[in-house]
Amino acid sequence: MITWRDEFALGVPEIDAQHKKLFAIANRAYEVLKNDLLVDKYDQIVDIFNELKDYTVYHFTYEEDYMKSIGYRKFLSHKVQHDDFIQRINETDLRQIDENQEQYLIETLEFVVAWIENHILGVDKKIVEG
Ligand SMILES: [Fe+2]
Repeated sequence: MITWRDEFALGVPEIDAQHKKLFAIANRAYEVLKNDLLVDKYDQIVDIFNELKDYTVYHFTYEEDYMKSIGYRKFLSHKVQHDDFIQRINETDLRQIDENQEQYLIETLEFVVAWIENHILGVDKKIVEG
């Protein structure tokens, strides 16, 4: 699980809401992982990954537009981080999921959750700190 803490808040309501939504998508993936009643999790995992990809692209675009709107000086280096993350997510090979669903989901989730936490705390917060 990834739990929202006050320190994640930027104080920009729409961006904070979008970050919470990313947490919620990640937590749904954890729920699928924990559900021992599901024998074949493939379809649900693919659905969640696709939703995560789509929502991340939407969120990054919003955040980048916000940075431009306030004339944020570190916009380009911030966008590079977004683009790298999207590239990594796009490289996720869904065919691997059939081989070892649990392990693949765990590793992908650990990467995604760690990235989101570090990015919000280390990079996004700088937007509002100036
Ligand atoms: Fe960001």
